[in-house]
This record gives sequence, structure tokens and C-alpha cells, in this order.
Amino acid sequence: MEKDLNELKVQAEEKVHAAGDEKALQDAKVFFLGKKGKLTAILRSMKDLSAAERPVIGALANTVRTDVEAVIAAKAAELKAKRLEERIQSETVDITLPARHQKEGHIHPLDKALREIMKSFMRMGYSVEEGPEIEQDYYNFECLNLPKDHPARDMQDSFYITPEILLRTHTSPVQARTLRKHEPNSPIRMIAPGKVFRWDNDATHSPVFHQVEGLVVDKGIKFADLKGTLEIFLKDLFGSDTKIRFRASYFPFTEPSAEVDISFAARTHDEGGDPDWLEILGCGMVHPMVLKLNGYDPEKVSGFAFGMGIERIAMLLYGIDDLRNFYENDVRFLKQF
Ligand code: PHE
Repeated sequence: MEKDLNELKVQAEEKVHAAGDEKALQDAKVFFLGKKGKLTAILRSMKDLSAAERPVIGALANTVRTDVEAVIAAKAAELKAKRLEERIQSETVDITLPARHQKEGHIHPLDKALREIMKSFMRMGYSVEEGPEIEQDYYNFECLNLPKDHPARDMQDSFYITPEILLRTHTSPVQARTLRKHEPNSPIRMIAPGKVFRWDNDATHSPVFHQVEGLVVDKGIKFADLKGTLEIFLKDLFGSDTKIRFRASYFPFTEPSAEVDISFAARTHDEGGDPDWLEILGCGMVHPMVLKLNGYDPEKVSGFAFGMGIERIAMLLYGIDDLRNFYENDVRFLKQF
């Protein structure tokens, strides 16, 4: 019997080693160790042994069982590892394939110009204000010293929604709103960018365009402050060799009023020629009526204001000659900036 047991062990170990998959291994296990397996058959005949032999053979049978179980367990682990390895092999992804190129976005040239403008004023300590695009006639005109029948309303062809509500024709109503937001006569230094709307449409005019308003109010603000501020700003934007010219003009909400022309290197005619002047913004000293209508006392404080079109500035900065390019969003155009 001892020989039978040792043989069984050798056979079992061979079978287990030869098992190529989990099914073959399970079959081997049943064949040797199962209820109807070889080991059980041997143990069953132990009843024929003498009392002296029985414990010896019993102990050997147990060792054989444990050894064979250990070999089976080792084989099972090996097969499992092999199966995992095969899965890893068959499911690998080829990461050497070049990735599909993502299209990159660009900052829109109008936004780029606005950021330049804001950077310059924020450096000078200006805050940024906002106001509604759908505006009351009252803020857009009336409290800017433009009563209902004022002829200067014709300067800005307006889209009315009702007789009292319109799409704002300029960012100047934010002047009035900002004055009213503040404690009367307290200092203000702000810019207000945004969309504006006028009934106009050709290569240099769009019914929707963008402006940046500016307003400074404090004790003793003079025209020299306006001039100095705009000079710093325009040289920031167009370069330190930019020439600046103030031309007398008229706006109902400023007095005196001026338009500012610039001439900068990229725009100057051939050497020795006259500089090429371009109108860039409107400005002036805040009209005393505007201060009064919005809760400030023109006897105590004074101020200046200015307004500029962002499209015009972007056209000059980036050499664009048709304003409609800004709104068509043709990728071939946008990609250039
Ligand atoms: N609001 C004026 C315009 O749109 C520009 C301006 C603003 C002029 C502030 C003077 C002061 O034409």
C-alpha cells in the first residue's frame, strides 16, 4: 500500500504538471483526490491492514494528500498568472499611434484689443463698470443732458423698443448709472466696455459695435488731466512715438468737448510727408448739467469723460480694413491674430 501511495503521488504530480488549463487541472484533482478518486480507493482498503500498519499508512496517506493539494494549488496559481498575462498581451493598446490634432481656439481680435485697452486703464487704477444693453431713454439720453427734443439725438440713429426703451446707442449711460451708484460727490475713476447699437451698416459701420467709456470725477479735475490721461493711454496702445491731436467738437454731455486724432508710425505717410491723422475717440469735461442730473454738485467736483469704439482701435492695431470681418467669424480671418 505504501508503494501504491507513492505511485499515486508521482502520477498525480505528473498529471498536474501536464495540465494545460484550469479544466484539466480540475479533472486531475477529481481523479486523484475526489470522493470517487484514487486516494479514496486506496484508503478504503486500509481496513485490511493490521493495527500496527494502519497509523503509519494513514499518516503517509495524509502527507500524500497535502503534497498533491500543494502541487495543485501552485499549478492553479501558475495558470491564473498565465491567463492574466495572455489577457494583458491580447488587450494592449498601441500608444505609439499619433493623436488626432485638436483645433486650437484664438482670442477674438476685438477681445484682444479690449484687453489691451483695459490693461492700460487698470494700470492707472480704473475700475470696470457695466450697464444694460437694453436701456431706458432716460439713461441713454435724458440724464446725459439730451432732452427728448434735442437735435443732437440725431447723431445716434437709435433702435427703439418702446418710446421709453431702446438698445443703448453708446456706453455713456453707464456714466449716469455709476454716478448714481456712488455717494454724491465721491471720487470716481472707471471704464465701461460693452456692446452698443445704431441703425447703420456698411464697411465701416455695423448696427452692433463695441465701445469703452471712461469717467473720472473728483475735486479739481481739469482738462489737463484728460489730456495727460489720454496721452498715456494712446502711447500705451499704439507706441511711444504716437502723435496726438485734440480737435474741438461737440457732445451734449461734455463741455468743452473734443475729438482726438492720432498718427502713429505704422500709419505715417512716406518719410517727410504729412502725418495721416485718424479720429480715435470723443471726450470732454463732464457737463455740469450731467453732474447735477445724477446727484453730484458741479460747484464741488468736476470730471472728464471719453468714449471710443473698440472696432476702430482693433482695425488700426491689427491692420484690418473691413469691419464686417469681426462678425463673420471666418476661421481663416480669426486664425491670423
Ligand atoms: N458717447 C459718445 C459717442 O458715442 C462718445 C463720448 C463719450 C464723448 C464720452 C464724450 C464723452 O459718440
